[in-house]
Amino acid sequence: MEHLLTLERITKIFTGTLALSDVDFDLRQGEIHALVGENGAGKSTLIKIITGIYQPDGGQMTLEGRRVVFPDARASYDHGIAAIYQEASLFEDLSIAENIYMGHQEIRPVTRNIRWGALYRKAGEFIKSLEVNLNPRALVKSLSIAEKQLVEIIKALSADAKILIMDEPTASLTKEEIDYLFRIARKLREEGTGIIFISHRLEEVFDIADRVTVIRDGKKVGTVPKDKLKVEELVRMMVGKDLKTLYPKEEVEIGEPVLRIENLSRHGEFDKVSFELKKGEILGMAGLVGAGRTEVARTIFGVENPEGGRIFLEGKQVRIENPRQAMELGIAYLSESRGEYGLVLQLDITQNITIPILKRFSRFGWINRTDERDTAKRFYDLLDIRATGIQQKVGSLSGGNQQKVSLAKWLAANAKILILDEPTKGIDIATKAAVHKLMSDLAGEGKAILMISSEIPEIIGMSDRIIVMNEGRLVSEITRREATQEIVLTAALGEKGK
Ligand SMILES: Nc1ncnc2c1ncn2[C@@H]1O[C@H](COP(=O)(O)OP(=O)(O)OP(=O)(O)O)[C@@H](O)[C@H]1O
Ligand SMILES: [Mg+2]
Repeated sequence: MEHLLTLERITKIFTGTLALSDVDFDLRQGEIHALVGENGAGKSTLIKIITGIYQPDGGQMTLEGRRVVFPDARASYDHGIAAIYQEASLFEDLSIAENIYMGHQEIRPVTRNIRWGALYRKAGEFIKSLEVNLNPRALVKSLSIAEKQLVEIIKALSADAKILIMDEPTASLTKEEIDYLFRIARKLREEGTGIIFISHRLEEVFDIADRVTVIRDGKKVGTVPKDKLKVEELVRMMVGKDLKTLYPKEEVEIGEPVLRIENLSRHGEFDKVSFELKKGEILGMAGLVGAGRTEVARTIFGVENPEGGRIFLEGKQVRIENPRQAMELGIAYLSESRGEYGLVLQLDITQNITIPILKRFSRFGWINRTDERDTAKRFYDLLDIRATGIQQKVGSLSGGNQQKVSLAKWLAANAKILILDEPTKGIDIATKAAVHKLMSDLAGEGKAILMISSEIPEIIGMSDRIIVMNEGRLVSEITRREATQEIVLTAALGEKGK
């Protein structure tokens, strides 16, 4: 197999951080090469060097036998390298078609002379050829996170690249969509494309990769053919130690209902959804992306207001008109998108964690900074956030560490009811186990947790009870005892699964 891309002794230094140190990496033609490692290990940094977003401080790159230097992203793209990034890179106010062809030769620079009809037709045909159901004229801002992710993927595919890089493409996709993505990836591999694939879901890595490279703390640990690799061994390479259990859910006594929703409805989003959440319970909410789970969560948290139905807290009916009221009533909501009610990238870790609870540290208008820092530090340690310290700006953290900060923020809020929307999305396996342990402990302390997750093993591993949504309706309730992958998935697929 031919070498497409070779990286030798790549080093990258950010102020205070040695993000990559003498890393070697090579990609062959027609292979899927997985890049794995803990949050902050340096995976995205390596990708951004390949795509010209960052310039290395040392080392060299060779593409098809020739030395290359990419001063910017354009240069890399022009050499046939396309990438899907961990963070969204779409223009919200433009249509799907415009986003897909943004930067392609034929409409560069963006002039008045774009032939819109042709553009939409071309985009429509391309989308159709991929068997995706998206309207090329729809504005990106009207799409769900998963649909945006699909547009990112389509955009990268449309570039006809020799090298396709996917930095956690599956984080917000469901099983169906992941299968679809993998089908495309395998097809591209057959055609000779070299693919670099980053994921924290090791079962995916084992499913699709030909070789796996592990990096830890900015250093390469090794490259191993997948066939010669066992899961435990891979975890040990990534984490540096053995991992006990990923789902440390303990049995706790389940108490009275704390939250009850009755016939909650919002037109076009979800219809007559009713369920109870009890003290000490972890209630898993499964379903396909677009089933309406996030919409229900947002409505309970007051981001959106219900058009029908009622919400009860400890038996008393409440009206929750906005997130502030929800927080005052003891509800916390970890949003699946980090930007929203999530993080302020320009602020540091401490400030982000303590935003919702600042009142707790203030006296006569003065904020007790020591208390504030102590609280932040406690969660920083608990979630093993990897940074130069609690004063690091959140914007410069790795993706997974940003996710940990938003989780810390809602955990610090000490709410009675925690709604966690994809709580371990993008989080590495060791921390994921720690987050699960924490959830189990919180339930043990009597908190009530509603966990939305697209990862069925996580739903099954952590929930006392599972409710399943399909196309805006609650279609099934499954006990912990009877839950299996098949039962949950079949319910989530609804009619289609029958
Ligand atoms: N622009 C930046 N400024 C300062 N430090 C940075 C910057 N980008 C990344 N870092 C640091 O470099 C290290 C590697 O980050 P990187 O994003 O490559 O990790 P990662 O392996 O992709 O992690 P994750 O799995 O969480 O996405 C981290 O310590 C991070 O804080
Ligand atoms: Mg990353």
